[in-house]
Amino acid sequence: MAVGLALAAAITAHADPLAGLPDQRDDLNKKDRVRVERIVRPTSSFTQAEQFELMQGGAGTSTKLVNRDALSHFNANLTFEEEETFKLGNALFRKLWVSSPSSTLASDGLGPLFNGRACQSCHIKDGRGHPPEGAADATSMFLRLARPPETDEQRKTLEDYLIASVPDPVYGGQFQDLAVPGLKAEGRMVIDYQEQPVTLADGTRVSLRKPAYSVADLGYGPLDPETTLSPRMTPPMTGAGLVEAIHPADLVNQADPDDRDGDGISGRLALTRDPATGEIAIGRFGWKAQNATVRQQAAGAFSGDIGISSPDAPNPYGDCTAAETACLSLPAGIQADLGDTEAPDPVMGLVTFYSQNLAAPARRDVDDPEVLAGKEVFYSLGCAACHRPKYVTSRKAENPAHRFQLIWPYSDFLLHDMGEGLADGQQVGRASGTEWRTPPLWGIGLTQVVNGHTFFLHDGRARNLTEAVLWHGGEAKTARDGFAALAESERQALVKFLESL
Ligand code: HEC
Ligand code: HEC
Repeated sequence: MAVGLALAAAITAHADPLAGLPDQRDDLNKKDRVRVERIVRPTSSFTQAEQFELMQGGAGTSTKLVNRDALSHFNANLTFEEEETFKLGNALFRKLWVSSPSSTLASDGLGPLFNGRACQSCHIKDGRGHPPEGAADATSMFLRLARPPETDEQRKTLEDYLIASVPDPVYGGQFQDLAVPGLKAEGRMVIDYQEQPVTLADGTRVSLRKPAYSVADLGYGPLDPETTLSPRMTPPMTGAGLVEAIHPADLVNQADPDDRDGDGISGRLALTRDPATGEIAIGRFGWKAQNATVRQQAAGAFSGDIGISSPDAPNPYGDCTAAETACLSLPAGIQADLGDTEAPDPVMGLVTFYSQNLAAPARRDVDDPEVLAGKEVFYSLGCAACHRPKYVTSRKAENPAHRFQLIWPYSDFLLHDMGEGLADGQQVGRASGTEWRTPPLWGIGLTQVVNGHTFFLHDGRARNLTEAVLWHGGEAKTARDGFAALAESERQALVKFLESL
C-alpha cells in the first residue's frame, strides 16, 4: 500500500533502517526480564509436557470442543464488551460485499476487480485456504504481481519502504480473477503440477508435486515481460493479536543475518512502514512478512482482495490501474452519510479487532509419549531454530488481553532463504525471491478438522505435513535431510507432534 507524499517528504533518506528498532525490552523490570529469559529458553527435557504448554495461546487459549469451529473462537480472556465487539467484527468479516449501486447501500463498493466478496470467502472457517479445486475456481488463493524497479524514483520509494514492490503497469500488484457484472476480470490463474518422486532413507516413497504458474484469458493485454507471479494461499489468522504483541526487541535479537552463530540459519527481519505511524516497523504478517500490523493487512485485503476502500487505503478502485479505464469508469460505493470510504471506521476497526482476537486452540495430547518423542525429534532436527517455540508478549501491548502472555506460536517471524524449490523469484520489501517468513505452527493440527484438507506451504503444494517438510531447502536443508533420514516411527512421531499443535 502506498503512503502519502507528505509522509514521504518527512522521511529522512537512507538512514540505517534498523537504527530505530529496540534491542532491549523496555516493558520489563530486571526481575521480570530474568524470569522471562528462563521461561522462554528451549526445553531439553522431553519426558513430560512443559508447564503451560497446553495453553499455547496463553490465557486467551480456547479450550472449547475440537470441531469445525475450533479456529473461530475469541480469545478466552476478552472482557464482555470486547466479546461483543468481536461478534460485530465477525459479522463484517463474513459480510458479502456487493457491486454499486445496490439497494443495500451499506454493503456497496465491491471491486470493480476482486478476488473474493468477503474476508471469510478466503479465510474459510478462519482457517486455511486451498489451491483451486476446479479449473475456474481460484478462490482463497491468488497471484501477487511485481517487477524489478526501473526508475530512480521507484528504487528510492522501495529503499525507503514506502512500497514493498513495483506493480505490473497494467494489472497492478495482484491478479484479480473476478470482476463486477459488465467488467472483464483480469484473467485466470493456471497451475500445472508435475510429480517428483522422492525416496526417503528407509525406502519409503513420497511424491512431491512441483507447481508451475501462469495466467490465461488475459482481459487487458499482456503482462509486462518483467512481471513475476507469486502464488499465495490464504493462511490462518490464529493468535494474530498476540503475534503483534511480541516485543520488537525479541525479534531484533533473534535475527542473525550473517549467521554469526554458525548454525547455517540466518533469519532476517522483514521491514515495512506502519501506515499508522509512518515509522519503519518489523513486518510480521503475510507469507513474506510484508505487513507490520493486522490493521495494515486488513486494509490491504479490503483494497486488493475485495476492492473496498478504507481510511487506510482510500482509493475506491482497489488494485485497478490507470490502464484499466473500464474499471475506473464504474461507480464507487461511498455513502456520504457513513463516511468518505466504502469501509469507514468503525468497520475497519471492528474487522481489525476480530482478526486480532481469534484464539489459539489448546494443544491436544501434550502428554502422549509419541507426541513427546516427536517433540524431541523436532528439537533435535533443528526445526525449533526457525519455528521458535515460545515468547512472553510485551507488557505494553495495546490490548490488556494480549499483555504478558506466555505464547507458543512456533515461529521466529523472520525471513529465510528456503531454496530454489520454493522460490517465487519475487522481491517484496526486504524478502528476496527465495525468502519466506517462517509461518507459525499453532493450530496447524486442526487443519483437517476445520478445513477438511491438509494443503500446506505458501501455495498449498504440500498435500500433507510430510510433503511440507520435504519441500524445505536452503537454510532449512539440513533439517529437511535430517527428516528424510529418520526411521518411520520417528517420522510418525514428529507428524503426531505437529498434529497436536
Ligand atoms: C481473496 C482471498 C482473500 C480475502 C478476500 C481476504 N484475505 Fe486475508 N489473506 C489472504 C492471503 C492469500 C493472505 C496471505 C497474503 C500474502 O502473503 O501476501 C492473507 C493474509 C491475511 C492476514 C495475515 C495472516 C498472517 O498470519 O500472515 C490477515 C490478518 C488477513 N489476511 C485478514 C483479512 C481480512 C480482515 C480480510 C477482509 C477485509 C481478508 N483477509 C480478506 C487471502 C484473502
Ligand atoms: C530455516 C528455517 C526453517 C527451518 C529450520 C524449518 N522450517 Fe518449517 N518452514 C519455514 C518456512 C520459511 C516455511 C514456509 C515456506 C513456504 O511456505 O514456502 C516453513 C513451513 C513449514 C510448514 C508448513 C506451515 C504452513 O503453514 O503451511 C511446516 C509444517 C514446517 N515448516 C515444519 C517444519 C519442521 C518439522 C522442521 C524441521 C524438520 C522445519 N519446519 C524446519 C522455515 C523453517
